Amino acid sequence: MGKVALITGVTGQDGSYLSNFLIDKEYTVHGTVRRSSSINTYRIDDLISKYQESGKFKLHYSDLLDSSSLNTLIQSINPDEIYNLAAQSHVMVSFKNPVYTTQTGNMGPLSMLEAIRYSEKDVKFYQASSSEMFGGSEKVSLNEKSPFDPKSPYAASKVFAHNMTKMYRDSYDLFCVNGILFNHESPLRGQTFVTRKITRALGRIVLGIQEKLTLGNLDASRDWGFAGDYVEGMWKMMQYNTPDDWVLATGETHTIKDFLSIAFSLYDLDWEKYVITSEKYFRPNEVDYLLGDYSKASELLDWKPKTSFEDLVKLMCESDLELAKKDKVLLDENLITPTWEHPLSS
Ligand code: NAP
Ligand code: GDD
Repeated sequence: MGKVALITGVTGQDGSYLSNFLIDKEYTVHGTVRRSSSINTYRIDDLISKYQESGKFKLHYSDLLDSSSLNTLIQSINPDEIYNLAAQSHVMVSFKNPVYTTQTGNMGPLSMLEAIRYSEKDVKFYQASSSEMFGGSEKVSLNEKSPFDPKSPYAASKVFAHNMTKMYRDSYDLFCVNGILFNHESPLRGQTFVTRKITRALGRIVLGIQEKLTLGNLDASRDWGFAGDYVEGMWKMMQYNTPDDWVLATGETHTIKDFLSIAFSLYDLDWEKYVITSEKYFRPNEVDYLLGDYSKASELLDWKPKTSFEDLVKLMCESDLELAKKDKVLLDENLITPTWEHPLSS
C-alpha cells in the first residue's frame, strides 16, 4: 500500500509540483483548498482530471485559520506525511496585510502540530520555512546555523512557525522538519513574484503587445532554483532517519538585473529599453542578498539542484512566450482588455 500525504496550499506552485512528485511515488495525495469566489485550481487541473476518479488525488476545503477543519482532516485522512505549504507567501503583501499574514502563518502550522501531537498515529510534518528568515543584510553564504533577522511580517511569521516546529520536535519527540528553502521558480510561479513578472511581460514585449515593464529594486540578489528540483528535496527530508532543519539552495546568487539581462538577450533585446522602476514596488525594508549553502542536504540527503540558472530563465521565458501568443489571439479578437500593468501587481 502506498503512503498517504496531506498537502496544504496544494493550489500553489510547490503544491502542484509536490503532488505530481508524490503521485509518481505511489502516494495518495489529499490537498486543502481555501474557498474563493472563483475556482483557482489551474495548476492542478491535470491531476484532478487524471486521478480524481481513482481517488489518488483528493481535494478538501480548509483554511489555515480554521483549526477545526485541519484537525478533522488529519483525524479522518490519517496521513503518513503532512506538508504545510500554505501561506500568504508574498513579502510585499505582508507589509500591507501584516495581521492576516501573521495569523495564517502562525496559527496554521501550530494547529496542525497540536493535532499531530494528539494523533494516535506517528504523523510526519514538513514546515515550509524560508530563506527570508535570514534577512540577507550581509554578503555571506547561509546555512542551517546562520542567525535569523526577519525583515518583514512574512519573514517574522516564518520564524515563529520554524521555532514552533523545532519546539514540537524537541518537546514531544515528533517527526517535524523545517525546509529552509531559498527562492525557487518555475512556469507555475505566481505572476506577482519578480521572475514571473519579468518573463510574463517579456513574452508580450516580444510579440509587440506590451511596451513597458515596471519593477522596483533591481539590485537585490537572490539564490534562484527550479521548484521541481526543490520538492524532491522536501520529500527526501521526510524520508531521512531523523527529523531536522535543512537548507535547499543552488549556491549561486544573481541580481534582478542579471535575470533581466539573460531573459531579454534570449530574444536579442536590451532590457534597459523596456524596464522602468517605480517607488511603488520598493519595500519598506529590503532583503538585499541571499545565497544558500546546501552542503548538509547534499551530504546527508544526496540532494542537489539539477537545473542551472540559465536553464531556469529559458524554461520560464519559453513557457511565457506560449502564453503571450494566447494573449495576442484574444487581444486581436477583442476578447480581453490589456491589464498588463495590473493594479494588484506587487
Ligand atoms: P504560493 O504559490 O503562493 O502558494 C501558496 C498556497 O497557500 C496557495 O495554495 C494558497 O491558496 C494557499 N493559501 C494562502 N493562504 C491560505 C489560507 N489562509 N488557508 C489555506 N491556504 C492558503 O507559494 P509557493 O511558492 O508554492 O510556496 C509554498 C510555501 O513555501 C509557502 O509557504 C511559501 O511561503 C514557502 N516558500 C516559498 C519559497 C519560494 O521561493 N517559492 C521559498 C521559501 C519558502 P490560493 O491558491 O487560494 O491562493
Ligand atoms: N515581487 C516583486 N515585484 N519583486 C520585485 C519587483 C517587483 O516588481 N521589483 C524588484 N523586486 C525585487 C524585490 O524587492 C526582491 O528583492 C526580489 O525582487 C525578489 O522578490 P520576489 O520575487 O517577490 O520574492 P521574495 O524574495 O521577496 O520572496 C520569495 O522568496 C522567499 C524565499 O526567499 C517568496 O517566494 C517567499 O514566499 C519566499 O519565502
